[in-house]
Amino acid sequence: MAASCQILEPSDETLNFCARTLGNGRLVAVPTETVYGLAANALDELAVRRIFEVKGRPFVDPLIVHLQDASMAESCACLNSRFHTLAKHFWPGPLTVLLHKRPKIPSIVTAGLPGVALRVPSHPVLQELLSRIDFPLAAPSANPFGYVSPTRPEHVRRTLGDRLSCVLDGGPCPHGLESTIVDLRNETKPAILRHGPLEKTRIEELLQHPLDDLSGYNSAGAQCSPGRLKKHYSPKTNIRLLEHGTSSEALNKRPPNADNAYILCRRPKVEADTSHVFWLSEDGDLATMAHNLFDLIQRLDDVGYKRLHLEEAPEEGIGRAINDRLRRAAAQ
Ligand code: TXA
Ligand code: MG
Repeated sequence: MAASCQILEPSDETLNFCARTLGNGRLVAVPTETVYGLAANALDELAVRRIFEVKGRPFVDPLIVHLQDASMAESCACLNSRFHTLAKHFWPGPLTVLLHKRPKIPSIVTAGLPGVALRVPSHPVLQELLSRIDFPLAAPSANPFGYVSPTRPEHVRRTLGDRLSCVLDGGPCPHGLESTIVDLRNETKPAILRHGPLEKTRIEELLQHPLDDLSGYNSAGAQCSPGRLKKHYSPKTNIRLLEHGTSSEALNKRPPNADNAYILCRRPKVEADTSHVFWLSEDGDLATMAHNLFDLIQRLDDVGYKRLHLEEAPEEGIGRAINDRLRRAAAQ
C-alpha cells in the first residue's frame, strides 16, 4: 500500500480538486451508496482505458456510466417507457439499467457491446462532485479485478493504493452491495442481470411485469453481461459456505481457531467462547448483513486465517444478493 494515496475528506476545496483531476483525464475513487467506484470521465477514452489498467480488468468487461440525474440519460441511450417508470421511482439510488447506447458513449466503456449501463447514484458526496463536472463518470467497483468490492475508503487504499492518488471519503457505503442491474433493452422482456439492494419483486410490482432472471452464472446472461463470472468477489483466504441455519453444528464439528474463522448471519445465542467467530448483524437483519459483509471479509482477509467459514443468508429479499456474492466468492 502506497502512502501517496490520500483519503480526502469532502470539502469545497477537495471536491474542486477531484473535479479538476477527473477533468484532466485522471482517476478518483469515489463513494456511492452501494460500494466505492473507480471513476474517470466516461467521454475520455484514454482516461477510461486507465480504469481497466489500474483494476487489471479485461477490456471485454464493460463499465457502468454514472449520471447526475435522469435527464442526462437521453444523450447516452435510447430510452423507453419501462426506463421512465423505473428511473422515476428508483433514481437516484442503487439501480443500474441496461439500454441501447448512443454514439456519444465511447465503445471502450461498453466493451464494444451495443448496450450501455446507466445509474444515478444517490450518495450526497458523489452528487456534489457530479454537480461540479459536465461529463458522466464511468466507474466500476474500486477493487482489483475479481476481488471483494470496497465499502470504505481504507479498502480502496488497501488494495489499489499503490496505483491511485486519491480516494474521496464518503464514509462507509450504506448498502454495501453493488447495484441491482436490470436489462431494459427489450421492453417486452425485461430481465434482472445482477441482484442487489433493490429487490426483484419491487421492480416487478412497478413494471407490472415479471423479470427474467439472468443473474445466474450458467444462464444466457453471461453473454449479455460479461462481468458475471462464476468466480468473483473473492478474498485471498479460502472460503467455505455453510447452509443457512447450520452454523451451530458446524461450530461444534470444527471449532473455530487461528486457522478457521466463522462469519455468521447473526450473533450466536449461546455465550460460548467467540474468539474467531464474527457476525454480520445482531439479529439477522438482512440490510445490516449486506452493509457489513464486504467490510468484514476485507478486514479478516489480512489476519492470516487459512479458511473463512461463511454462513449463507436466507434466500429472501436482499439475502439473494448476499448469497449471490458469497457463492461467487467461494467458487473455485
Ligand atoms: O453499485 C454499483 O453498480 C457499483 C458502483 C461503483 O456504481 N459499480 C459496479 O461496477 O459494481 P462493476 O463494474 O464492478 O460491475 C458492473 C457490472 C459488470 O458485471 C458488467 O459486466 C456489467 O455491470 N455491465 C456494465 N456495463 C454493461 C453493458 N454495457 N452491458 C452489459 N453489462 C454491463
Ligand atoms: Mg465489481
